[in-house]
Amino acid sequence: MADTSLDFIHPGHPLYDGELDLRFRVLREPLGFTRADVKFPFEDDSLHLVAHADGTVLGCVLFHPEDAHGGRLFQMAVSSSLQGQGLGARLVRALEEELRRRGFRHVHLHARAPVVPFYERLGYAVYGEPYEEVGIPHRHMQRDL
Ligand SMILES: CC(C)(COP(=O)(O)OP(=O)(O)OC[C@H]1O[C@@H](n2cnc3c(N)ncnc32)[C@H](O)[C@@H]1OP(=O)(O)O)[C@@H](O)C(=O)NCCC(=O)NCCS
Repeated sequence: MADTSLDFIHPGHPLYDGELDLRFRVLREPLGFTRADVKFPFEDDSLHLVAHADGTVLGCVLFHPEDAHGGRLFQMAVSSSLQGQGLGARLVRALEEELRRRGFRHVHLHARAPVVPFYERLGYAVYGEPYEEVGIPHRHMQRDL
């Protein structure tokens, strides 16, 4: 994966369709949602970090700024054949570095329950009660940058 590049893109960038495809395949299709369900209302106001090689998007993570100090990390996905090889952690670290550079101090996220340990390894802590989203159990998590 040494030849995998990480770049921030915007909707309309040549890699954006690849990002949407990855998000659909990894995060929405397995839950029975359609491709139309992939976009968020705050898509255009969010940071989109993609991992890509040879024009193929292999991973992504998004961040929606909610105020001057923080916001929500969302749509964290790594292509199924590459999971467990460090790309997800690399994406989160690179996003956090950019957020610090921009002056953000807090990140929160909606973690799918089985993925809570992934975020805990990256310094995120669970808060609040368990809840359901997109039909599956979730936990709120946060960290200070
Ligand atoms: C969750 C996901 C983004 C993690 O990315 P990844 O590239 O597979 O994870 P990494 O290889 O970078 O893992 C980093 C660390 O977290 C651990 N980890 C990753 N997923 C884990 C899981 N589900 N449970 C426990 N530990 C996990 C890894 O073992 C690794 O530990 P280490 O630092 O001790 O080696 C990826 O597996 C994925 O896309 N899953 C499906 C979509 C999804 O659930 N997204 C999150 C929505 S909230």
